Amino acid sequence: MPFVGVARLEDLPPGKSMEAIVDVDSYVVCNHNGELHALDGICPHRNGPLGAGNFADGKVICPYHGWEFDCLSGEYDLNPQVRLKKYPVRVNGGLIEIDVPHEPGVQMENDWEDT
Ligand code: FES
Repeated sequence: MPFVGVARLEDLPPGKSMEAIVDVDSYVVCNHNGELHALDGICPHRNGPLGAGNFADGKVICPYHGWEFDCLSGEYDLNPQVRLKKYPVRVNGGLIEIDVPHEPGVQMENDWEDT
C-alpha cells in the first residue's frame, strides 16, 4: 500500500479537516491538536462527503445530516459499532501522505466489473 501526498501540512492547521481524493476514493484528513488522522471520506449513513463537513472538538461532522465521528477512532458518536476505517498518515518533506489501499492509477481486479 503506497503513501500518496494529498496536501501540504501548512494547508491543514490544527482544528481543521479537509477532503482528499485519490483516484475515485475519498478520504477525510483532520488535524486534531497537531495530530493528523485519515479516515474514509464517505459517510456510512447516506454517503455524505465528510471532508466537506465541519470539524469541531475532534469530531468530523457530516454535512448532510450531522452524524459525528471521532477523528482518532473513527467511531460514530451515537453508536461505536459504526466506525470509519482509518488509514496511516505521515508527513514527508512538508507533505501530508496517506497510506491508501492500492496504487493510484492502478485498476484493481474487480473495479471494472458490474455487480
Ligand atoms: S449522510 Fe452523513 S449523516 Fe446522513
